[in-house]
Amino acid sequence: MIRILAICDIVGLLGCRTVHENLEKIKNKYNIDFVIANGENSAVGNGITQKSAEYLFSAGVDVLTGGNHTFKWQKFIDYLDKSQKIIRPANYPEGTPGNGFLEFNIKNSKIYVINMSGVVYLEALSCPIACLDKILEKTKNIKIKIIDFHAEATAEKRAMGFYFDGKISAIFGTHTHVQTSDEEILPNGTAYITDIGMCGAVYSVLGVKPEIAIKRMKNKIPLRFEHDNFGPSKIECVYFDIDEITGKALDIKRLRFIFD
Ligand code: FE2
Repeated sequence: MIRILAICDIVGLLGCRTVHENLEKIKNKYNIDFVIANGENSAVGNGITQKSAEYLFSAGVDVLTGGNHTFKWQKFIDYLDKSQKIIRPANYPEGTPGNGFLEFNIKNSKIYVINMSGVVYLEALSCPIACLDKILEKTKNIKIKIIDFHAEATAEKRAMGFYFDGKISAIFGTHTHVQTSDEEILPNGTAYITDIGMCGAVYSVLGVKPEIAIKRMKNKIPLRFEHDNFGPSKIECVYFDIDEITGKALDIKRLRFIFD
């Protein structure tokens, strides 16, 4: 059995610091073999940078996934393109820098981590179902496949889960920054959760200072979002237990840790 932890979405300095200070303890307590984290909000001012990525790797993250903010910083694109530890949604147009999926080795088993973006209320990338179908066709020899489905609409996420049930080991949602309580093993053995949540400020609007989010909502005038970097913080995540012979999920457990 392989136990994989998925952490989401790490927001700003407080989210990064909280993961840095606590990930090792969580890994030891739950006997985690491999860590996937969504890092597309980890930089100051959103997006992801080399500095925020390396800080999270030094905390014990094995692979970082992305989403709609992956390409926010021009300077990061070169680094992403060469990285064998960061992925961006696979359904970007052909020729986009970076990888949509990467292969890793855990306890003598090969696993594929795949990043996919939803297309409802997000950038109109290619169809995530068709794109993932193509990837699965090419990677039949690898049993364990874990998908970060970075998407807004809950129905799109659940439909994706049912379509790929039995064809992948686990699919978890990211992007909304709100943890859902629908973690389950689908009928054909795929672990599923609509959204695994957020790491960062507890008293915030998806990681952003509430007063800024409220002002923007009331005045309708664009305002630069600032992350809340103080006060209690949280780590929200799930772990999956995967049978390395069949590639099916044995268990999914949702976790939330609050730090003062
Ligand atoms: Fe996002």
